Amino acid sequence: MLDPRSAHKLQLIYASLNKGTDIATMTAAQLIGLGIQFSIALMVLGVALGGGGRPCQLRPETRSRRRPETSPCWPHSPAARLPGMQRNGPVRGSVIDRRLSVAPMMDWTDRHCRYFLRQFSPRVLLYTEMIVAQAIVRGDRRHLLEFDPAEHPVALQLGGAEPTTLEEAAAIGASFGYDEINLNVGCPSDRVQQATFGACLMARPRLVADCVRAMRAAVSVPVTVKCRIGIDDHDDWPFLRGFVAAVAEAGCEVVIVHARKAILRGLTPKENREVPPLMYERAWRVKREFPALAVVVNGGLRTVPQVAEQLAHVDGVMLGREAYHNPYLLPALHRAVYGDAFETPAADAIVGRMRSYAERESARGTPLRSITRHMLGLFHAQVGARAWRHALSEGVNRAGASPALLAGALRAALAAQPASR
Ligand SMILES: Cc1cc2nc3c(=O)[nH]c(=O)nc-3n(C[C@H](O)[C@H](O)[C@H](O)COP(=O)(O)O)c2cc1C
Repeated sequence: MLDPRSAHKLQLIYASLNKGTDIATMTAAQLIGLGIQFSIALMVLGVALGGGGRPCQLRPETRSRRRPETSPCWPHSPAARLPGMQRNGPVRGSVIDRRLSVAPMMDWTDRHCRYFLRQFSPRVLLYTEMIVAQAIVRGDRRHLLEFDPAEHPVALQLGGAEPTTLEEAAAIGASFGYDEINLNVGCPSDRVQQATFGACLMARPRLVADCVRAMRAAVSVPVTVKCRIGIDDHDDWPFLRGFVAAVAEAGCEVVIVHARKAILRGLTPKENREVPPLMYERAWRVKREFPALAVVVNGGLRTVPQVAEQLAHVDGVMLGREAYHNPYLLPALHRAVYGDAFETPAADAIVGRMRSYAERESARGTPLRSITRHMLGLFHAQVGARAWRHALSEGVNRAGASPALLAGALRAALAAQPASR
């Protein structure tokens, strides 16, 4: 049994490997410390597994569902908003609108970040950061998985490569009410490779298919896969086609394609999000050749016109870094894509709601910083941005900092804006 602290530590280690700083910028001492921590966590995991994973039996193939022929994108199911659905999540067959989503980002898209981003669009699909399946099964699942009902629609991303563990983690995730279970086949970090999951799994499509079958058998919500267009020298169309065919046949209904390959040796995770060239045409080709699959494209998208262009070719667009740093892009996208009457929420309304949230969370012992650190981009590219960031980051370090800090930081930001004086 992996005790909660070890499971949590394992999750933190994966998180540190994906931070913007990346290994390349860490000091030698930090690296050694990280290596030791990781070895300990892997040892604990190995013991917990009783000597490692066991191969999975192939299960009978499950049917893949065709998306409706009529709509270019899936409408949001009203059924998903029924009270009972909040608790148990929608069943397979109900549909999730995938036109817009915010990417899984380790150490970034935790539940506080998702609650904040939800303020900018009631419909965009949010993903958790990757959570290691083993940690869910053997660790403190409540700590890892709980979320606020306001986050719906929300998908859980799992990291793992062992079908039975993924099956169990998926079932636990669905029981917490996640609307979708996603498998990470795109993370290139060294440590994830050592645990043989993430992007390196693209070279093992049959294993990924086994994982998808196992997860599908365990849950009624959609099971999806996030991958790259290739890895290392396996970067041609036949390789990607073979991978997609395998997971689609196993019952994966949605493939999210980060439209650049991963280079598994020599690049940091950060470089792997920037150096390999973007090839959106590959994702478009997946859609053309697998029309029954919902295809979501990801990577380097930052503006409404860029997103609109993608939606002419695929079912959905996933944004990562830009949505995090510039959350006001979300209401602009929301209006452009969904075309409903959603009005851009004013900064003071968002701050007011986040203050109430921070008060509730403080009462449960959540450090204020865990919430405010995701809010630094509220005034992105606006006058007042620096005053906002400064007031938040300085204020949160002061003794006795309380959620009222948010109101003070808002005043500082607005005071810097000439029009509001
Ligand atoms: C800090 C950070 C952490 C990330 N963690 C994950 C992760 O846990 N799982 C995953 O599939 N991708 C992860 N990614 C990759 C993103 O999901 C996305 O594929 C990538 O950032 C490209 O999209 P973008 O250009 O819109 O940011 C991470 C990206 C960043 C910046």
